Amino acid sequence: MSVSPLFLGSLAVLSTLVGPLCCQNVNSSESDAKLNGSAADFRAFRAHFHRTYEVDSEEFNRRRVYFQNATERHAYLNSFSTMSQSAKYGINQFSDLSQKEFKDLYLRVVPDKAPIFSGLKTPGLPARFDWRDKAVVAPVQNQGACGSCWAFSVVGAMQADHAIGGSQLEQLSVQQVLDCSYQNAGCSGGSPSRALSWLNQTKLKLVPRSEYPYKAKTGICHFFSQSHEGVSVKDFSTYDFSGQEEAMMGQLVAHGPLAAIVDAVSWQDYLGGIIQYHCSSHWSNHAVLIIGYDTTGDIPYWIVQNSWGTTWGDEGYVYIKIGGNICGIADSVAAVFL
Ligand SMILES: *[C@@H]1O[C@H](CO)[C@@H](O)[C@H](O)[C@H]1NC(C)=O
Ligand SMILES: *[C@@H]1O[C@H](CO)[C@@H](O)[C@H](O)[C@H]1NC(C)=O
Ligand SMILES: *[C@@H]1O[C@H](CO)[C@@H](O)[C@H](O)[C@H]1NC(C)=O
Ligand SMILES: *[C@@H]1O[C@H](CO)[C@@H](O)[C@H](O)[C@H]1NC(C)=O
Repeated sequence: MSVSPLFLGSLAVLSTLVGPLCCQNVNSSESDAKLNGSAADFRAFRAHFHRTYEVDSEEFNRRRVYFQNATERHAYLNSFSTMSQSAKYGINQFSDLSQKEFKDLYLRVVPDKAPIFSGLKTPGLPARFDWRDKAVVAPVQNQGACGSCWAFSVVGAMQADHAIGGSQLEQLSVQQVLDCSYQNAGCSGGSPSRALSWLNQTKLKLVPRSEYPYKAKTGICHFFSQSHEGVSVKDFSTYDFSGQEEAMMGQLVAHGPLAAIVDAVSWQDYLGGIIQYHCSSHWSNHAVLIIGYDTTGDIPYWIVQNSWGTTWGDEGYVYIKIGGNICGIADSVAAVFL
């Protein structure tokens, strides 16, 4: 686990690294020079993330304020990071969004309440477990400007379980779930457990992603004949594991990657490392896929795949401390059975 060195150093380093790329779409650095504070950082950011808004336009000036606000947030968030493994916060692809824009675009999960888990801890669990080692986890996806995290988490669990069952790892269609799950609201949001209860009720076969590609837009549901190849759900479970994260580790090992809901407000600024603070429980707004855990270091953590592309977090992954229901990771956790 590592934090991208690009972002760990000072922003001056970032400016130097991306310096030669700078100003492709950005006109005069003259105009930037008039701006105070983080003008050079903002220029480096725009070059790195290919922002095309024109210097001194209304949007440019608005985004510059958001950017400046983000850097102030980062200083605060990082002031809690006392251990080298602790989470780091800083400039990423979301740094020129206001917190409201970020919430409206990406945090679209409708929270739900799950029954409290009443099973037992699994004895003899490995200290470290990662479903990627079994080659059953598909690469990190990017949901784009669409509140579809709920569909990505459920489809991520299904395609992993399908591969665990001995099939070739194949990505299944997130777009099919987005378009066809009427109890949810497509790109405007949804909930993993609602999507799962619909999949379990209808026994709809999810087709490969190649046959029903992702568009980051809600569309019209395409129907396939009963004989069409696809993967359907036999059953699923959703539990609240708060206070029982060891039992949750057992579920992960026994049943495959888990679809979970979390509070991801502070994830707007996350770069890597283990999240211990700045997250609430019982206030979920985002859905993710838990694919492993590691208890061998000073801070035990969950390994979580997000759907914001590989430029976010640690190559698209985020680590959350185990114990204490950090970010509400144990609030409502779904296992899928195929
Ligand atoms: C850059 O700005 C100058 C004047 O400020 C203008 O003459 C020039 O056409 C601009 N170049 C581009 C690529 O927009
Ligand atoms: C830059 O800072 C100077 C002094 O600190 C101030 O007078 C000026 O108005 C600032 N310019 C902008 C564009 O904020
Ligand atoms: C930026 O931060 C300032 C001070 O922290 C705050 O007053 C302002 O509302 C923020 N602006 C935006 C657009 O978030
Ligand atoms: C899923 O569907 C099966 C019927 O195929 C049903 O027996 C089971 O109770 C359902 N599971 C849930 C959690 O609703």
